[in-house]
Amino acid sequence: MEEKNSQDISMSVKLGRLLLKYPVMPASGTFGYGEEFIEITDYSLFGALVTKGISLEPSKGNEMPRICETPCGLINSIGLENVGFEKFKDEKIDFLKKFNIPVIVNFFGKSIEDYAIMAEKLSCIDGISALEANISCPNVKEGGRAFGTDPEIVYEITASIKNCSPLPLIVKLTPLVSDIALIAEVAEKAGADVISLVNTFPAASIDINKRKFKLSRGYGGLSGPAIKPIAVKLVNDVYKAVRIPVIGMGGISSWEDAVEFFMAGATSIAVGTGAFNNPYLIPQITSGIRKFLQENNFSSIYDIIGIVNN
Ligand SMILES: Cc1cc2nc3c(=O)[nH]c(=O)nc-3n(C[C@H](O)[C@H](O)[C@H](O)COP(=O)(O)O)c2cc1C
Repeated sequence: MEEKNSQDISMSVKLGRLLLKYPVMPASGTFGYGEEFIEITDYSLFGALVTKGISLEPSKGNEMPRICETPCGLINSIGLENVGFEKFKDEKIDFLKKFNIPVIVNFFGKSIEDYAIMAEKLSCIDGISALEANISCPNVKEGGRAFGTDPEIVYEITASIKNCSPLPLIVKLTPLVSDIALIAEVAEKAGADVISLVNTFPAASIDINKRKFKLSRGYGGLSGPAIKPIAVKLVNDVYKAVRIPVIGMGGISSWEDAVEFFMAGATSIAVGTGAFNNPYLIPQITSGIRKFLQENNFSSIYDIIGIVNN
């Protein structure tokens, strides 16, 4: 059989009504507000620009040290540091929207009401293409358990955001649940347009000479290649449970990793920790996927999505 021409391969994907020219994007919190990376990499092959999590009020995050390396990964306890809604609106969005690439704003709250207020406020800003609700953070009113661990709260948060915002909604799940498929189904029922996963896994590392945790807060969230096989499995669980598209992430550091996530059922993928080592990773992954599709005579990224379950 004759190999396809690389121009004939369709790399675009649809996330609900959001059309991405390319299927790879940065993972929230590892790309700031897009200002630093532009010095070293070209965004033209990015499917979307994804901000770090924004909250109503600014937050300084946790005390240093808040990042440490582990074998094949890193643990962070940044503590969701961010500039807050007003500063984001006044100083950050104009930069992001000038690239003509969809802008996805990740956000979070301390209560269900906070999520709804944030969604409403963000929807009034020009230049935002979709919202990504991070439901892995602690529900302060309910004793600090992550919102995303309780199906009823996942339903309530998702429905109340949808009620307040016409923007496409991505619900980003925590992996720390016993049945991720159930949580994804509930989010879908409540109106989520897209599911993204995984967020980081709780972890700790100890300096044995100082006899102390390496991070000021003790615990943090593990990301990077160490979590990839778990993430691939969870993405596949969710893919099989819902009809809406899935954004897969967790330890992707090569185009081969990315292809695994597509084959597990992701329609799009995000790269976080991997880009700390290699800021050119997103365009490199996109080119690698295209070459793989071409060499294997596929004509579109859709030909491989969920292929392991066909
Ligand atoms: C330093 C750092 C900051 C992060 N901040 C956020 C955040 O603000 N909101 C969010 O939803 N996820 C956040 N994440 C999670 C990532 O978006 C991603 O889900 C996770 O790191 C797994 O992907 P990776 O292994 O490619 O990094 C953060 C991760 C890291 C490493």
